[in-house]
Amino acid sequence: MSAHNTNISAHTAFIVIAGLLSLQGCSKPAAAAPAAEAVTGVEHVSAGSTLEAGRYLVKIGGCNDCHTPGFAMANGASPDEPEWLTGDAVGFSGPWGVSYPANLRLSFQNMNETQFIEMARAGQGRPPMPWPSLKAMSDKDLKAIYAYIKSLGPRGEMAPAALSPGVAPDRPHIPFTPQMPAATKS
Ligand code: HEC
Repeated sequence: MSAHNTNISAHTAFIVIAGLLSLQGCSKPAAAAPAAEAVTGVEHVSAGSTLEAGRYLVKIGGCNDCHTPGFAMANGASPDEPEWLTGDAVGFSGPWGVSYPANLRLSFQNMNETQFIEMARAGQGRPPMPWPSLKAMSDKDLKAIYAYIKSLGPRGEMAPAALSPGVAPDRPHIPFTPQMPAATKS
């Protein structure tokens, strides 16, 4: 924990120094610093409670876009919160095979907070799950997400198991590979 905080402040110090150097107009490499600061400078969100922080992170983290059926298509207008994060049987196909957005309402009943943080830090799952985003989150934010999703309680069915590359999907799936445009008429 404290090592983590130290890393962040060491990094922030670097950014501040790099920023000062760039203000003095004597350092080219400092140009990339602001983007890095935007991510690492924020250690965790603050909200009225851990559950509120978790709810906020789930909303801004786009978790519902994939893990809640219909949410992205309805531009977030539905379904309501009781149906959130129940997983989707429509998969994403790509070089990794086919991955299905897990039913997080069930996943989070079956793992404890430490296991979730280890999973996020390892970031080893299949695309298009934004593992890099989870990996970049502070422990505090991951704990808030864990608490919030677990508090929603179990609901729905397990998502289908992922398919290995080359295995033909037996249900609807969204190809997540670039498609060539149709030939244009001359
Ligand atoms: C672009 C789609 C997408 C978004 C956005 C997304 N996920 Fe996922 N998620 C997936 C897919 C697909 C899987 C299954 C990955 C696999 O098969 O390895 C997954 C798996 C997971 C798992 C593993 C569950 C288990 O039981 O193994 C967790 C935890 C998870 N997502 C949490 C989140 C959280 C928290 C957010 C929001 C910050 C989020 N996801 C946003 C698509 C997404």
